[in-house]
Amino acid sequence: MTEEVFVCSPSIREQRFLLECAVVSNDPVAPSHYRMRLHGPEIAAAAVCGQFCMLEVSKTLQPFLRRPMCFERIHPPTFDVLYKVEGEGTRLLSQFLPGQRISVQGPLGKGFPICSGVRRHILVAGGIGVAAMPALAEELVRRFAAVPEVVLAARTRDDVINEAFFRELGCHVQCATDDGSWGHRGLATDLLEQLKPEAQDCVYACGPMPMMRAVAALTAASGAMCFVSLEAQMACGDGACLGCVVQAKEEREGERMVRVCLDGPVFDARVIDWEAQDDNDAD
Ligand SMILES: Cc1cc2nc3c(=O)[nH]c(=O)nc-3n(C[C@H](O)[C@H](O)[C@H](O)COP(=O)(O)OP(=O)(O)OC[C@H]3O[C@@H](n4cnc5c(N)ncnc54)[C@H](O)[C@@H]3O)c2cc1C
Ligand code: FES
Repeated sequence: MTEEVFVCSPSIREQRFLLECAVVSNDPVAPSHYRMRLHGPEIAAAAVCGQFCMLEVSKTLQPFLRRPMCFERIHPPTFDVLYKVEGEGTRLLSQFLPGQRISVQGPLGKGFPICSGVRRHILVAGGIGVAAMPALAEELVRRFAAVPEVVLAARTRDDVINEAFFRELGCHVQCATDDGSWGHRGLATDLLEQLKPEAQDCVYACGPMPMMRAVAALTAASGAMCFVSLEAQMACGDGACLGCVVQAKEEREGERMVRVCLDGPVFDARVIDWEAQDDNDAD
């Protein structure tokens, strides 16, 4: 594996927009999970896989902050967000109807690097972390005609989302559920271990912090490249408030912190101090 630490991909045009986008659809896809398709030609044209946008879920002060969501699919002039209802913001989001408009800021952050010369691309998603993966899988197939390996982990069968989509794209898909109701009974990392990542492979992960910590450890031991998409509570989404900082392993430019919104959300796993991360921060 190269010693160079990767800087993840910024938007191709490095342009950001603040636009009123029309809701094309907003449908349930699993218990408490919805997919919203938005018409936003400028945002969709500028976005790359792994980046995110901030949605204004309410015009009132409650909730005050925009909610960050990654791009699940980017098909200009539309893009999709896949979300799980967690609290008031996402509950309000689930009530938007086709034809309504929603203010969207984006694309934001740095996306997944698309590296050539990789033997196997392995995508590992835990829970709603699956939202970050379809756009990445589509890009890998489009750019390299690669057939990614995909590991999908969820609590139970009903929460396994996008399995059919990945299969139709030609990916090799394996599933794991906590209760054994679909696929392997156990963890995403059990399946990743069976795939035996090697130095020429690249692993991309998004999911709960304990999963990403375990993926980072496993790939570090194997020598494979690993990119993780982190979540953090966000206020500005733009690098200014420092509300989203996580601890880095090494000091860079006098700081041992990185901002998830600006330096990420996708990071080379070697950048993050995994032992310092709180398991409740992002699941
Ligand atoms: C870059 C980024 C991309 C994201 N992409 C997606 C996505 O594609 N789909 C999706 O469903 N969710 C995604 N999230 C998480 C999503 O933004 C939060 O679930 C959402 O903001 C919760 O808002 P709420 O008002 O419904 O819940 P709140 O009432 O604000 O919180 C409900 C619970 O969720 C926790 N929570 C809130 N925000 C976050 C957060 N950012 N990270 C971890 N826990 C949080 C709170 O601590 C609380 O326990 C992303 C977060 C980030 C930072
Ligand atoms: S959310 Fe404000 S700095 Fe990241």
